[in-house]
Amino acid sequence: MGSDFGHSREPSREYTFLREAMPPRSREAKKSANASPGYAAEPSVLRQAVERLWPELEWIEDRRLRARVAATWVRAFELSPLAPDDLNRIPFTLLVPDCPATFMQHKRCVVHIARRAAESMIEFLGKALKIDLDTVIAGAILADVGKLLEYEVVDGKARQSQRGEFLRHPFTGVALAMECGVPEAVCHIIAAHAAEGDLVKRTTEAIIVHHADFMSYLPFRK
Ligand SMILES: [Fe+2]
Repeated sequence: MGSDFGHSREPSREYTFLREAMPPRSREAKKSANASPGYAAEPSVLRQAVERLWPELEWIEDRRLRARVAATWVRAFELSPLAPDDLNRIPFTLLVPDCPATFMQHKRCVVHIARRAAESMIEFLGKALKIDLDTVIAGAILADVGKLLEYEVVDGKARQSQRGEFLRHPFTGVALAMECGVPEAVCHIIAAHAAEGDLVKRTTEAIIVHHADFMSYLPFRK
């Protein structure tokens, strides 16, 4: 499904404030802040790392959307104290003590659940409900991208930063995605995937991602 999101615009200049407000650290500073091997600031290296983290990017049929989703993750790593490999080590949530599932295990599970749920809904309800599969997949891949700006690593452990206390990841995720030209329908999923979204009317695609996220989170809550 090669959906056209009606986005001929280049990434908006309006959101370059993020670039100016949070300049990426020098490569040396990043290395001292995070000892993970292979971590580098060059966009091409980060892009390859993002593609390794997220094989599900290939599921997005719209090439322009796929590129913008990948660019959002690259931009998040440019601004984050976390390295790509950290996501295979740190817990997916700080709300569950000693959470046994990693960030990537949880996030990839959410993307797989969301895609299969959307496919089933399209199969049985497709005539009654309009569901854009690319939007679901892109939204699920990006739902927690803002967590890269919410965490900090101290003594090898991830914890919420002061920025994270002020701005939870749905907010920073939308800022990152808009800077990279991600369509509003996908930004809506980032904004509404968590509890904050209870205050807005979610699209069908956002409902799917919200439930996929919570069904793989709530069982960990004691
Ligand atoms: Fe989230």
